[in-house]
Amino acid sequence: MSKPVVAIVFHSGYGHTKAQAEAVLVGIQDVDAVEGVLVPVEEVESKWELLDGAAAIIFGSPIYMGNVSAAFQGFAEKSSKRWMELKWKDKLAAGFVNSGAQNGDKAQGMNALFTLAQQHGMIWVGLGLHPGNNASGATVNDLNRLGGFSGAFAQSNVDQGPDVVPPTADRKTASHLGKRVAEAAVRWTKGA
Ligand SMILES: Cc1cc2nc3c(=O)[nH]c(=O)nc-3n(C[C@H](O)[C@H](O)[C@H](O)COP(=O)(O)O)c2cc1C
Repeated sequence: MSKPVVAIVFHSGYGHTKAQAEAVLVGIQDVDAVEGVLVPVEEVESKWELLDGAAAIIFGSPIYMGNVSAAFQGFAEKSSKRWMELKWKDKLAAGFVNSGAQNGDKAQGMNALFTLAQQHGMIWVGLGLHPGNNASGATVNDLNRLGGFSGAFAQSNVDQGPDVVPPTADRKTASHLGKRVAEAAVRWTKGA
């Protein structure tokens, strides 16, 4: 029997959100019972059937002008064909976003991912971590340093490449989300 698929559908204009997506995949790969697959939005036309069969879809986007990128939104609109038949209803969903500024209006983008998932009737899986970096003894190296709850947040300095940013703390936070969704997918598909 083939393993349940946890797909990561993402856009990345300059590689930073791709690095975050790859960190999500690392977390998924910690769970042997599922298969993680990266799906850049540019390749989605050949991946609709894979997505239809997935147990979970994790959505990821950079923040452009205070929201998800136009390329990600293009994917969201194309997914309306799935919405017509509620093909993704009851799949697990989760999200990650990455911006240049510390805040950068990331929450707006996460809300767009959440709303997309809800339009499809999916079941949202949040981060499941306390905030890091929020006390006198805490540091920017803490897991969940940006203190999100609804998904994995990352920040990438705008003058550094994806080989350097987002920093390790944000990549580990992304991996945590991937593992959490993968473990949830195992439970969710039990007996299915
Ligand atoms: C068109 C455009 C708009 C952007 N708008 C924002 C923004 O609203 N808030 C922010 O913090 N960063 C913004 N940024 C910075 C990106 O979020 C940041 O550079 C991110 O790491 C890019 O990810 P990517 O390399 O995956 O495309 C913007 C970048 C671009 C190119």
